Amino acid sequence: MYSALSKSSQLLARGPAFSTSTMVQSPISRITVIGGGQMGSGIAQVAATHKHEVTLVDVNQEALDRGKSYMAKSLKRVAKKKFAEDEAAQSRFVDEIMGRVSLSTKPQEAVSRADLVIEAIVENIKVKQDLFAQLSKAAPQEAILASNTSSLPIGKIAELLDEQRKQRFIGLHFFNPVPQMKLVEVVRTKEVEQDVVDSAVAWVKAIGKAPAVCKDTPGFIVNRLLLPYMMESIRLLERDVASAQDIDTAMKLGAGYPMGPFELCDYVGLDTIKFIVDGWHKDGEGLKGNPLFTSSKKLDELVKQGRLGVKSGRGFYDY
Ligand code: NAI
Repeated sequence: MYSALSKSSQLLARGPAFSTSTMVQSPISRITVIGGGQMGSGIAQVAATHKHEVTLVDVNQEALDRGKSYMAKSLKRVAKKKFAEDEAAQSRFVDEIMGRVSLSTKPQEAVSRADLVIEAIVENIKVKQDLFAQLSKAAPQEAILASNTSSLPIGKIAELLDEQRKQRFIGLHFFNPVPQMKLVEVVRTKEVEQDVVDSAVAWVKAIGKAPAVCKDTPGFIVNRLLLPYMMESIRLLERDVASAQDIDTAMKLGAGYPMGPFELCDYVGLDTIKFIVDGWHKDGEGLKGNPLFTSSKKLDELVKQGRLGVKSGRGFYDY
């Protein structure tokens, strides 16, 4: 069903995309998202919701089916709220959006008509570099290529590409869960052209999100500030200054944060936090050796025990 666009959805997807919520226009209308996991399926869902024609790519059909099922479940929740009493309207809403999403296991074919390609695959620099080297042979020369990486330098991901491609390469860092989180960090490399930054900003607004433009430095804006905050919270706990619960209460009620640092750590995943901190400590530009970006005994122990947070049922808290 979703591998071929229906006639009506092709008509809806054609031409400049038009956001219903913000009424911001963008000439970008055909999107290819590579990687149908948590992030990629969320990005595909949001783009399709805002009338873009989306192709979602993954390594095999099983991964694509999983991505499709994430999207359908999330859209059903939205539809239930939007059309509480009307089951037929709920189905129409979900079907119309899913009808704009095609699935593919052939990345080169999938990018051949794309205006914008967003990569959301495994967080491994070599795998990402090789993917873009492959995609650059097939994507239109004017296409914008983007990575959704959380922790890798955008410029390094584009390293194997020629100068022309590097000028059209950018970071588009979405937040999890994509359908709910408003922010997208638009990350500019040294090489990227201003018109690409402008187009990316306009597109982010067209899909109902809020862009924040920043330079390509470790952690961009949000994680650069959040990681040391989370690590300092863990160190506070290690020094027995207060319990995790009291630290969370203090930051929620004293600083007005919606979640405490330990709730946040468990939600993000303790393995992810350790992976990022260790990577930055080892060779993060300007962060190497900085004690703020050093893992802690407590974090290392929890990860070793498989206590990774919400996803494993236990982290700082039990779920
Ligand atoms: P995930 O593990 O849920 O999904 C990754 C998907 O990519 C899998 O379906 C996998 O089969 C697919 N994949 C792997 N190699 C591929 C290849 N060569 N070609 C096509 N598909 C391939 O991972 P998740 O959490 O969605 O993360 C993806 C990217 O998004 C990473 O770069 C991560 O740093 C970034 N990110 C993750 C956030 C999060 O909270 N999970 C937040 C913001 C960014």
